[in-house]
Amino acid sequence: MRHQSIEEILRNNRAWAAQKQAQDGHYFQELASGQKPPYLYIGCSDSRLALTRFTGTEPGELFVHRNIANQVCLTDINFLSILDYAITHLEVKYIIVSGHYGCGGIKAALEGRTTGLIDNWVNPIRETYLQNQDEIDALPTQEQRWNRLAELNVVMQIKNLYQTSIMRQALQEGRAPEVHGWIVDISTGLIKDLHILTQQWHLRSLALAAI
Ligand code: CO
Repeated sequence: MRHQSIEEILRNNRAWAAQKQAQDGHYFQELASGQKPPYLYIGCSDSRLALTRFTGTEPGELFVHRNIANQVCLTDINFLSILDYAITHLEVKYIIVSGHYGCGGIKAALEGRTTGLIDNWVNPIRETYLQNQDEIDALPTQEQRWNRLAELNVVMQIKNLYQTSIMRQALQEGRAPEVHGWIVDISTGLIKDLHILTQQWHLRSLALAAI
């Protein structure tokens, strides 16, 4: 795929801003006045996941955290700061944890090959694979095994989310956002809601909060 030059990208930007301004003279004035996004989106850094295009959302709707293989890491101060800001200050209504099929980070974890520094980052996903090895290995193709681990990873990351002090406190105070798990199928452009039942982690999370 031919990539656009820096000059082309900046030209695109000027054209887009001019078009928006022409359509609505107050558009940027309103955008600049502040944010109140209803969603916190936690997703993979993959360049193909053009989130706003995939979802038709507008600037100001999604507060975003992205990393390789969309992980909720309990020691990641960047992620925890975003989560705290989203829940405590922005008061987001929903948290979406989104994985995707064809994820390079998931593949690295599944195959267990040494690819450098990333091995450390995806190691928790390797653990998820090992915990579910019988189910995953029983699938007929490597692609299906790869996809299944991507789904199980979303479940695991949501479980991690409920272990953060921030979510536990929000649950205790009855202001926890609703959590959804998604998978993006890049081969079709479609988003699949995994319909993960988060209730199972609420009580555990509240029990931890009471300690
Ligand atoms: Co990915």
